[in-house]
Amino acid sequence: MKKLTSIIAAMVLTVAPAAAKKGDPKPLPADPTPRIIEIETANTAMILTVDKDGSLMFDYYGKKIDDPAPFLQKNSYRRVDFCTDPAAYITQGGREQRQASLAVTHCDGDLNTQLRYVSHEVEKAGNRTVTTIQLSDAVKPFDVKLVYEACTGQDVIVVHSEITNRENGDVRLRNYFSANISAQADRYYLTQFGGAWAREMGMQESELTRGIKTISSQKQVRAVQLENPSFMLSLDHPLDENSGNVIAGALAWTGNFDLSFEVDDFDILIMRAGINPYSAEYTLRTGETMVTPDVILTFSDSGAGEASRNLHDWARECGGVYDAEEVCPTLLNSWEGAYFDFDTELLKHMIDDTADMGLEMFVLDDGWFGNEFPRNNTKQGLGDWQVNRAKLPGGIDEIASYAVSKGLKFGIWIEPEMVSPRSELARKHPDWVVGYNTGRELTTTRNQWLLDLSNPDVQDFVFEVFDNTMKMSPHISYIKWDANRHVENAGSAHLDRETQSMFWVKYTQGLYNVYKRIREAYPDVIIQACASGGGRVEYGALKYNDEAWTSDNTDARSRIFIQYGTSHIYPSVVMGSHVSAVPNHQTEGITPLKFRFDVAMSGRLGMELQPKNLTDDEKAFARKAIATYKQLRPTIMYGDLYRLHSPYEKGNYASLMYVEKDKSKAVLFAYCFEYRGRDTVCRLKLTGLDPGRKYRLTEVNVEKKPIFWGEGMTFSGEFLTNEGVNLPLTKRYSSAVFVLEAVE
Ligand code: DGJ
Repeated sequence: MKKLTSIIAAMVLTVAPAAAKKGDPKPLPADPTPRIIEIETANTAMILTVDKDGSLMFDYYGKKIDDPAPFLQKNSYRRVDFCTDPAAYITQGGREQRQASLAVTHCDGDLNTQLRYVSHEVEKAGNRTVTTIQLSDAVKPFDVKLVYEACTGQDVIVVHSEITNRENGDVRLRNYFSANISAQADRYYLTQFGGAWAREMGMQESELTRGIKTISSQKQVRAVQLENPSFMLSLDHPLDENSGNVIAGALAWTGNFDLSFEVDDFDILIMRAGINPYSAEYTLRTGETMVTPDVILTFSDSGAGEASRNLHDWARECGGVYDAEEVCPTLLNSWEGAYFDFDTELLKHMIDDTADMGLEMFVLDDGWFGNEFPRNNTKQGLGDWQVNRAKLPGGIDEIASYAVSKGLKFGIWIEPEMVSPRSELARKHPDWVVGYNTGRELTTTRNQWLLDLSNPDVQDFVFEVFDNTMKMSPHISYIKWDANRHVENAGSAHLDRETQSMFWVKYTQGLYNVYKRIREAYPDVIIQACASGGGRVEYGALKYNDEAWTSDNTDARSRIFIQYGTSHIYPSVVMGSHVSAVPNHQTEGITPLKFRFDVAMSGRLGMELQPKNLTDDEKAFARKAIATYKQLRPTIMYGDLYRLHSPYEKGNYASLMYVEKDKSKAVLFAYCFEYRGRDTVCRLKLTGLDPGRKYRLTEVNVEKKPIFWGEGMTFSGEFLTNEGVNLPLTKRYSSAVFVLEAVE
């Protein structure tokens, strides 16, 4: 027996870390006094407690509880050796066996981390309260701060972590998620948003069963097209627009992401969100801190509608979207109208028509650059951002000045993260191409390679592309920033052998460095985040971008679904939404011009076609619709969104309404996208109006005669909310838009 004990002791000795020497950095002193930390907004609260052994536990996220004291009592009964509640930040090691938010290899090889509460502070600034909780490992000088920013009026809590290495050597971060939260219900229904190129933000709901469901991306640049880093989680019942407990969230990260939902053996659900650890071990040197991206969370006890409105308010009022208060100009984009085939004269004609229809900006898309490798198709030219002298001998300024002379703003397209193999740039800087260092044949997507933004020289180059483009004319107000490929062979000639796996994070951080420099230099320019359509519809990019190109699919029927899904997480103020030609270039679908306008007007209205192909009648309709849109724009951009009928529900119709905050005005949209038969009408209960007021209802975008029997009549809000309107939208692609104005 004695022999066996000494063998075990010897084994322990061989794996034990070297004993700390005097003067070595120490963990911060833990304070295991049980306490409650409540992070609250106007109507919601997140409750954390410090446990007997100093662990920080996640106790609750939901409707505000005025007296949280029982959480402390509950805490005192909790057994440290058999605890079902999850930690506020789950680590590998200690008492946790669930998927870890934090998994590291400490400098001595130890794989475990046990975080203990050290202290916390609360800072209030206007509408925001920031609670920062300091944790430290039980035995190692390794610290984590959890930062919870409560946006009180919006009922949104934004969470991230900050991980600091104070050890005597490198720490390898294997999982470094931003946050985990938990929920307890009998059933969990997850709604995810995604699809594919040209089918973005499709909605899918599934009931979560035991195990782990993950929404993630490994594509990096166009990370969010297939799966958006956002979710709605409905507790006990499937997601409903107006009832039920819902937690909704989004991750602000323009790169590989991972949102995981684990239903554990106690039927507790743990949601974890952050940077995807896929192939992305990160070396944290002594003294360095990793700041993880924000997770934006909201809770609603009144269904999906309220959760969306909270997120929209946060996006518009708390900096979630860049410059959201700036009214966006209506525009004509040259892409689907001209593609690569234009010259000065053609553009000037387009500009004339843009002004004539009452639009406010002309945007010149792809095709204006490259001389040795002219950009006349997708095969070449990316990287050579000099104006193509054959197409535009007077330069960009001639076109921009012409637009301005017609009373328009001017915008231009760039794709600065990319390079064509056939370009002067590729010849000059092959080492700037992602994957160059691997010595492998570089794969192309859309005939292009990706520049390595983890390299500061490339960051300078990308900034200069933007800067030089802006300097081509003093009349540039708008940049469309495109990104048309994802990462395949990862690799950076700039990073060394040991840090290749940091490429994914360094790329996104590089992109943010560039965005920050651009915003310092050009605070007022409007920037659209486009990545083959909706590849960058996420709050990491939107912090620096004014709008996003929701999808390359401009078919109005498809857009009903794409924009409906998008609206769950992102506000209309970011949703680029254009009227294009028929047959539609992606789907070949044919829809009436009115239907196309009625759909596009529910977002940031633009057009994307050759106006000279419109008939006089069509132009006249467009002129009127654009003028109407400008009047309704403040309500559509800044009103509260009420989704009245889902296109996924029975009936083949969809409807939504924007209601001004003071309920004095609303704009109602209704679309029928399949023949519905004579016997049915679209019955819409106009949730969101003030039942105590009276509203006059007027149809706009009328083609022949108004469709509703109550045209021009005044109705009580009570009637409109409870009985609603019955619209005879029965024909495929019939639609209507109404304005409701409070008269009392
Ligand atoms: C993809 C974008 O999504 C389109 O709108 C257009 O800008 C093309 N790229 C141009 O190449």
